[in-house]
Amino acid sequence: MPGQIPQDFIDDLRSRVDIVDVIKDYVPLKKQGQNYKGLCPFHSEKTPSFVVSPHKQIYHCFGCGKGGNVFTFLMDKGGFTFVDAVAHVAKLCGVAVPQEELTPEKAKQKSLREKYFHINKLAVVFFQERLDSRQGKAAGLYLAKRGLGKEIIAKFALGYAPNAWDELGRYLLSKEITEEEIITLGLATKGQSGKLIDRFRNRVIFPIFDDRNRVIGFGGRVLDDSQPKYLNSPETPLFNKGRQLYGLNLAKAAIRDEEKAILMEGYMDVIAAHQHGIGQAVGTLGTALTAEHGKLLMRYTYNVVLCFDADAAGQEASLRGMDILRQLGLRVAVMTIPDGKDPDEFLRRNGQEGFSQLVKQAPSLVEYKLAKQMEKYNKNTVAGKVQILQALIPDLYQVQSPVERHGFIELIAQRLSLSETVIYAEMRKFQTKTGPTRFSKHEHEETAPVPSGPSLNAAVKGQRFLLKLLLEKPEMLPEVEEAGGKELFTDQFYQEIYQIYYLLRRSGHNIKAEDLITHIEKEETRQKLTEIILDDEVPADWARIYKDCLLTLQIDWLKQKIAEKNALMIEYEKSGNVTKSLEILAELQKMIQKRQSLVSTLVKVGNSLE
Ligand code: UTP
Ligand code: MN
Repeated sequence: MPGQIPQDFIDDLRSRVDIVDVIKDYVPLKKQGQNYKGLCPFHSEKTPSFVVSPHKQIYHCFGCGKGGNVFTFLMDKGGFTFVDAVAHVAKLCGVAVPQEELTPEKAKQKSLREKYFHINKLAVVFFQERLDSRQGKAAGLYLAKRGLGKEIIAKFALGYAPNAWDELGRYLLSKEITEEEIITLGLATKGQSGKLIDRFRNRVIFPIFDDRNRVIGFGGRVLDDSQPKYLNSPETPLFNKGRQLYGLNLAKAAIRDEEKAILMEGYMDVIAAHQHGIGQAVGTLGTALTAEHGKLLMRYTYNVVLCFDADAAGQEASLRGMDILRQLGLRVAVMTIPDGKDPDEFLRRNGQEGFSQLVKQAPSLVEYKLAKQMEKYNKNTVAGKVQILQALIPDLYQVQSPVERHGFIELIAQRLSLSETVIYAEMRKFQTKTGPTRFSKHEHEETAPVPSGPSLNAAVKGQRFLLKLLLEKPEMLPEVEEAGGKELFTDQFYQEIYQIYYLLRRSGHNIKAEDLITHIEKEETRQKLTEIILDDEVPADWARIYKDCLLTLQIDWLKQKIAEKNALMIEYEKSGNVTKSLEILAELQKMIQKRQSLVSTLVKVGNSLE
């Protein structure tokens, strides 16, 4: 990468730009002495240990050890390539990147990713044109019926996928896009006859943009009540659902200005919000909120208001989401939309004013949980008060600011008609019970980055072996994919390597381990990969270790799944949703059976090997 742009120019740029200006676009920073401080964007933490030095023009996190200069920051945090990062900084400084760098040849050698973004862009234009055409009439009427005007349709680049088998496919082929690329991006699949079949047919199209305005994927909604209501892009090299927030490209400025993000579930909720002047709304698109989502938001604000659907699933999502966000150090509030409406419906009836009122009233996490507990227990009995208080104390502990915590204690005292002294006394009891050291250790465990390093445990060793084997023997990929694929890799780095490798292979690239490095952007992941390539060797008797290893990982994975399902079942039981809990019980039984049969196979394999 470096070397294409003259080193002099790069050095000059680095001396012109102020790293603080660049980083504060991603991380809220506070001046402290000569330096600036903020919550580290590279790991989860509650007290700031991320330091930016305007003097030395570097950053360093005293928590996780990450550090670097303005370019590595943009590459690591902003998703820029080196060349893009230089161009970005040059623009900030108002200077032009030297011309010789942009030779026609270089321009042609666009990276694979850029090509993919370009193809998605073409698809957006195709869908938009179809919406405007005669074919898109019904879709246009549908959008109008849902209250969307021309302006907002254009703002979100909505479109229509015609009711045809391969119009998009043919359109893209005519633009010299290859079948392989179309399939890789999940825009079409290959039918039995070997022809392309468009993924989205007769649906309103919602392009999904990343925070830099590049199209990473699509959602498509049916015009009637058929199922599935929404179809989304599959995981592709550009699209990973747990990491993207719908509408962030449009919302990020407002989020910074208002110092608040409003997090919703659906496409239509976000669009309705923007149409009604609530510009800081973004959407999780129906997936569970992840820490990645939280970290993405932390580039813009520390305040998040959850505005999920009023149904049971939405409320459950709120409770989980709150905890995830709080653990990252974000301040969370929870909105409840009255009468079981979703935000979209509410906005259409009550407009911006009604909605803003709800945002203002949104209780903070502690208040929200207090209200929930008060519904559950009777605050007029002593036993009830004890139960409510017990449930809230762990959350009170998590509140960072003593002032804020005192505010909550005041509130709880008032609502439960207790004296504040009693609450403080309960908190002290809790502290001695859990023990302060244990407590802080627990906190640390929650927020520390995923450990990696020399002490490989057995499971991680198994994953590493499997990965090495797959890199040498790609013919084993289908079997591993069938057995669980990326889910088998609990180590996030190995999982990422597997996923990228698998996707490239699936789309027909005959990629070698060494070439894979250029497709991996994360420095740590890249280090892991080079380590495997250089360190390990596939033993001659790999086949027998492989069987064993695959079974063990599958069993581990099922164990994890079973635990998760079990917890979910218990939650449904608690909330009295019998149908749902029985449904899960049935799934659980199947998983347990599967696990048992795998275990007995493993034993047999083991025996026959002895
Ligand atoms: P909802 O079922 O709440 O839909 O799913 P909605 O947003 O209210 O949709 P409208 O108003 O009927 O158009 C919330 C979100 O979950 C995802 C979508 O992102 C949706 O916006 N979802 C839902 C899917 O991905 N697939 C589905 O089949 C349903
Ligand atoms: Mn809706």
